[in-house]
Amino acid sequence: MCGIVGYIGKRDAAPLLLDALRRLEYRGYDSVGEATIHKGKLYVKKGRGKIEDVHRELKLDSLPGNVGVGHSRWATHGEPSKRNAHPHVDNSGKVAVVHNGIIENYEELRQFLRDNGYSFSSDTDTEVVPNLVSYFMKQGNGFEGAVRKAVGRLKGSYALGIVSVSEPDKLIAVRKESPLILGLGSGEMFIASDIPAVLPYTKRVIILEDGEMAVITPIRALVKYTDSGKAIEKKPLRVAWTAEMAEKHGYPHFMLKEIHEQPEAIRETLRVSADELAQLCKMLLDAKRIYIVACGTSHHAALVGKYALAKLADVSAEVVISSEFQESCMVDGGTVVLAITQSGETADTLKAVRVAKAGGARVACLTNVVGSSVTRESELVCHTYAGPEIGVAATKTFAAQVAYLLLLAFNLAKMRKCISKVKFDELVAQLQETPNTIDAVFERTEKQIEELAKRYKDAKNIYFIGRGIGYPIVMEGALKLKEIAYIHSEACPAGELKHGPLALIEHGIPVIAAVVPGSARGRMLGNVEEVKARGATVIAIAADNDEEIKRHVNELISIPVTHELLTPLTYISPLQLLAYYIGVERGFDPDKPRHLAKSVTVE
Ligand code: G6P
Repeated sequence: MCGIVGYIGKRDAAPLLLDALRRLEYRGYDSVGEATIHKGKLYVKKGRGKIEDVHRELKLDSLPGNVGVGHSRWATHGEPSKRNAHPHVDNSGKVAVVHNGIIENYEELRQFLRDNGYSFSSDTDTEVVPNLVSYFMKQGNGFEGAVRKAVGRLKGSYALGIVSVSEPDKLIAVRKESPLILGLGSGEMFIASDIPAVLPYTKRVIILEDGEMAVITPIRALVKYTDSGKAIEKKPLRVAWTAEMAEKHGYPHFMLKEIHEQPEAIRETLRVSADELAQLCKMLLDAKRIYIVACGTSHHAALVGKYALAKLADVSAEVVISSEFQESCMVDGGTVVLAITQSGETADTLKAVRVAKAGGARVACLTNVVGSSVTRESELVCHTYAGPEIGVAATKTFAAQVAYLLLLAFNLAKMRKCISKVKFDELVAQLQETPNTIDAVFERTEKQIEELAKRYKDAKNIYFIGRGIGYPIVMEGALKLKEIAYIHSEACPAGELKHGPLALIEHGIPVIAAVVPGSARGRMLGNVEEVKARGATVIAIAADNDEEIKRHVNELISIPVTHELLTPLTYISPLQLLAYYIGVERGFDPDKPRHLAKSVTVE
């Protein structure tokens, strides 16, 4: 949700800012801009559209100077346009600001500034910030003092990068409720919304926390409390991710690369420390009530977790979409909330966590990003190890979350004596084998999926049905198709068809059915028949030993047999690929779906 970057050092800032912005483009891409300072003058270029398009027209790397800020936008206040693109500059053309977040009291601040002779040229909430800084500078404050005073007037959430011609040897970063990191180079410093932006330049980062700011020169990043100005000693982290991990490696898109990285994401995640898992098990076992909160794809992984916990470990957990948590959930001291968020920055999930804590609940999180906001809000921090995910639509992080939750369910089932030690070992061995099974799924199905994509690319509606653990699988399949191919798709628990959705089935409509082995399989076949009888073209994903299914469907995607609970890992790849190839057939960019962003930092 908006990417901000900043640079100060000896090199030309503009090309480095451009490179860093390209690495952050997954956060938002409706407009882009940069500002640099050179010989006492502020230079700004910005425009509407994706980075490459704007760069082709404006040559974003041609701005002069060794200090600057850049921004890739996901619009909240004000339509995507050049006028609303960042950086925003104060009326005197001396202060430039990039911002991620929302200034809630911007109307009131605009009025205050108007009363003091300022005017505005955009519809954004952000434009008040450079003008407030300028206002306080005119009152006699230095750059840093003016920033602190300005920020003191802001309500809402913000990660800010600020430069001023009055002190061109400084870059100021401020953080409240929107992510911001500092990249510490040698003789040069970076700021960025996310770690991948700085990976080619440094592995040493400082994660700014809420209420902190940094006054940065080429050789020093001084972190302070924004309100008091008191300096804080912060230890830099050394990140294990490499720049290579955040590149495409010959794949045409990150999404395709990341789909293919799922086996590795699972292998790495299954290396979780026994201690971390034991702590999470204990926390859940001590709970009177368990909620799992998440959004989007993480919500679907959470549902897989719920099914596995109930089926195997006799543990009941309620899965709640994060933005609904405060509206519908009862929280007390006996409540445990497990927040699942790959980015660790999703505002809805952070809000749910805060509401839970305020009600006395204990909070654990499962995230892919070390040091992300959710980790600072949680009593227990658990990690998936999928590596950086750049494609906006989550793929490999889903696989990693599911693998983690299955391992958790297996462990809880053993602790609660719901399964024997032998059964536990057998399940863990099967889970550890799934990366190889998924590689076999790619081998076997990718060509077939490409063909299917050509055939169904013009479908207006595609329905998905599943039962039991097949239901979260099809929910995720339908979400991928919406996000990437912009086709109306709906997932329905197969048993619920007869209570409404069946009325929508007409001749030739594609219905994708996840037929998973286990107790629900027989009833699922009945549901497949129901839609076929009404003219649907049924594409089933089923285990390759399921001979009977062939007679019931028009097209079969056949998957190596696994335990029922492992099917979310093996069945999801063909559905991700289907969304990907249909999106490409239709001429869309799967890495940057319209209106969406990877890390949604507004509620
Ligand atoms: C956005 C992304 C989705 C993602 C969701 C939750 O909507 O586009 O791909 O699943 O956020 O993200 P999180 O980082 O909390 O898992």
